[in-house]
Amino acid sequence: MEIRDVAVVGLGTMGAGIAEVFARAGIGVVAIEADEQALRSGLGALDASLSRAVSRGRLDGAQQADIRARVRPATGFGDAAGVDLAVEVVPERIEIKRQVFAELDRVCSPDAILATNTSSLSVTAIAAGTRHPGRVVGMHFFNPAPVMGLVEVVRTVLTDDRVPAAVADLARRLGKTPVEVADRAGFIANALLLPYLNHAASLLESGYATAADIDMAATAGIGLPMGPLALLDLIGLDTSLSVLEVLHAEFGVARYCPTPLLRRLVTAGRTGRKAGRGIFSYEGGRATDATGVAGSAGSAEAVDLADAPDTVTVIGSADEQEADLASALASAGLNVTRNAAHPTDLILIVAEAGQPILPTALAAGRAGQAVGAHLPSGFAAGALVELVATSLTADTTMRTAAALAARLGLSVVRAPDRPGFLVGALLYPHLADAVRMAQDGYASATDIDTAMTLGCGYPRGPFELIDAAGAADVLAGLRAMYIAYGYPAFAPPPLLAEHAAAGIDFAAVRRARPAATSDDLARSGPAR
Ligand SMILES: NC(=O)c1ccc[n+]([C@@H]2O[C@H](COP(=O)([O-])OP(=O)(O)OC[C@H]3O[C@@H](n4cnc5c(N)ncnc54)[C@H](O)[C@@H]3O)[C@@H](O)[C@H]2O)c1
Repeated sequence: MEIRDVAVVGLGTMGAGIAEVFARAGIGVVAIEADEQALRSGLGALDASLSRAVSRGRLDGAQQADIRARVRPATGFGDAAGVDLAVEVVPERIEIKRQVFAELDRVCSPDAILATNTSSLSVTAIAAGTRHPGRVVGMHFFNPAPVMGLVEVVRTVLTDDRVPAAVADLARRLGKTPVEVADRAGFIANALLLPYLNHAASLLESGYATAADIDMAATAGIGLPMGPLALLDLIGLDTSLSVLEVLHAEFGVARYCPTPLLRRLVTAGRTGRKAGRGIFSYEGGRATDATGVAGSAGSAEAVDLADAPDTVTVIGSADEQEADLASALASAGLNVTRNAAHPTDLILIVAEAGQPILPTALAAGRAGQAVGAHLPSGFAAGALVELVATSLTADTTMRTAAALAARLGLSVVRAPDRPGFLVGALLYPHLADAVRMAQDGYASATDIDTAMTLGCGYPRGPFELIDAAGAADVLAGLRAMYIAYGYPAFAPPPLLAEHAAAGIDFAAVRRARPAATSDDLARSGPAR
């Protein structure tokens, strides 16, 4: 079925952008708001966005006028009578959504598709309250809608087969990439993103690492565009908290249970960037840790290059990295030995994720002067080094090691001597969540990677990250975390163990079994 004319109900943060996306694709839009004032404000946001596009040279004045002429503003539902699709984008409250669907059900032709942009409510619950639940579907855009390339198309047990296929085709016409998902809380992107953010907040809360180090581990160590704590502040701690509550209510597992720090900050009105304060404070234009959590003393400690050592012992189990680091230190003019018996200012134990530092530090006989050094992406200028303190490492030793790393041009985070250190502690459980989602048959590895790259701005999806690190290494890291903590979320998923044992990457499976197109899905019916 071809979709030529749509209605967008609610022109708030998301709705104004969604109306713009349709109008830019040549589709007529009935833009419905609750009252005249809200309509003016929504159209104002749409106009401002189009004007920005003109000033940046992405549209000319004639195109702007054409797009704007396709938008027909309304404060009642009558004008939606002839549309092929209506998208509901009103606040995330089931009673408001039900009311809007009752109106659409009454006004629209029985052939029209009714879609909701809900992020966390049950599409089935919305559909079940209508007269024709087979035509109800989720069409979940990401913020900002004109920019983000993903649309999650949510099929319920009541949805007619033709409906998700038509919505997926429409999403392609809009220049977006659709992924089809079942009606499960959080769909793909939020169900994976939010527990990762929650886990990062719990690492901060427990004093495992500082806020600045946690965010640096994610950006410099994993390559993500933004740290999880800054992202929580950007999304809003209140919004994040309510999505986690929905996920926790649906799945009942601890990983979705909001960490108390989030609840406390929301109660205190520190909801993130929009409030000027969340995990970080944005006062004075600079983000500084505002939580006051014990052990998370603000942003990264200042490094004094004068603390750098003259003589260094380099030992450890990661042979190649050990050699790279030793030669870089020698090139930087340091006196380097690989013999632990030589008295030096500092012992650097080049570490592998999952392997504790302490036994090597004890064997070296000078544990107070020993620091672990883990380079998650190998040794290179600007690379991240995790400096790992054992319970015997002296504070002065950490300062010496940080000064040395700065002298080598490395970015530094500090981590305790626990499995995964900091980068792995953040990343491995997140990757395990993604593998479990594929293993449970909920979404394919391809769709999960698409959702995380296009919906969350990841440069590489979780399965590409696993392939890059090696399934065996991710498995070893997770196993070590699971043995140390016993949390079910750290239990390695069997699918990951299979890939590690067989030595095949996830990309090989994708090549062998290409993702289904919406035509295939339409032909093959609901069995997916
Ligand atoms: N904000 C995001 O980042 C984001 C991202 C993806 C999905 N969503 C989802 O999109 C939906 C809307 O979120 P938002 O952030 O745009 O909310 P919002 O509060 O910014 O906008 C909602 C708009 O709906 C209007 N409205 C309320 N009742 C109405 C009615 N009866 N008829 C017509 N208009 C009505 C309001 O006046 C308001 O302009 C929610 O379901 C949310 O979960 C939001």
